[in-house]
Amino acid sequence: MKNKAVTIKDVARLAGKSIATVSQVLNGHGDKFSPATVTAVEAARDELHYEPDYFAQRMIKKTSKTIGVLVPDITNPFFSELIRGIENVLYQQNFITMLCNADQDEDKERVYLDELSRRGVDGFIIASSAVSNQAINDILRRKQHPFIVLDQKKAEGISDAVLTDDYDGGRQAAEHLKALGHQQVAVLIPERAAANIQNRLKGFYSVYDQEAVTVITTALSKVGGRQAVPAILATSATAIFAISDEMAFGVYLGLAEHGKQVPTDYSVVGYDDVEMCQYVTPQLTTIAQPIFELGQTTANQLLARVAEPQQPWEEYHLPVKLIERNSTTRLNS
Ligand code: RIB
Repeated sequence: MKNKAVTIKDVARLAGKSIATVSQVLNGHGDKFSPATVTAVEAARDELHYEPDYFAQRMIKKTSKTIGVLVPDITNPFFSELIRGIENVLYQQNFITMLCNADQDEDKERVYLDELSRRGVDGFIIASSAVSNQAINDILRRKQHPFIVLDQKKAEGISDAVLTDDYDGGRQAAEHLKALGHQQVAVLIPERAAANIQNRLKGFYSVYDQEAVTVITTALSKVGGRQAVPAILATSATAIFAISDEMAFGVYLGLAEHGKQVPTDYSVVGYDDVEMCQYVTPQLTTIAQPIFELGQTTANQLLARVAEPQQPWEEYHLPVKLIERNSTTRLNS
């Protein structure tokens, strides 16, 4: 039979102190009592192996020291690196990271927001676009939960946000390919692309005319990149801008399956600069997002909001940059 859980009453009885005294000592206020009292309480706690009830503690401290994080696809190395940056800051500030992978499912995201709210997280980091603004209003704003948006969750100017310069990223990718002489380019983009990804295409169009670009919609994944290759081969493109590195890795396999070589037959540019870019052959030319820093900045900004809920909204902008490797080359070289 499961042992009855040790309660604070048991500790008080063994220590010969009141429950209030034990609670104060175990919640960091031992300085209000004599050393003998503190020693008696701590000895009783240790002898009974007492652990305070977490949720009871939260009722007293009004904080759970927990941050909820909502991402669309934990299998994508961009999001795992982003979470590493978030967790790096939260851990240093003694916060727990409660991660929810929503698979771009709006219903699932709403459930997660509800459940995180019920568990009393101190704040929310939202990187997924599926959750509606209605859900955010119903669950977060109305209850005045601190939250911040980034990446695929569009900044509406009525919350904190950390943004990377997607427009400039698309522009840099296009400038690079145009400088190599490519006149026709295929751009891979997911259906119902989030605003940040749409901005990359807008930046691309600041360099190439519409006639020079064939937009091919496919899944934002390696499978999507691979499946897009037959459509790419049907165009006159000599270069491919895959809107994420994962898509570019899929393009590599699809091209190989059709006997095509990178970069001799097609130059390929990715987006993100996940670590894998250096381990594929040829190493992938890409637009680097400061992913780890993006996570750190987001976590720091949210903790500032938790501490000062009344401050004006803040938007942080982080730059991106072209990392030229071996998957792009001059046309007809
Ligand atoms: O690879 C996943 C992509 O979706 C990244 O470019 C990231 O910005 C997210 O929006």
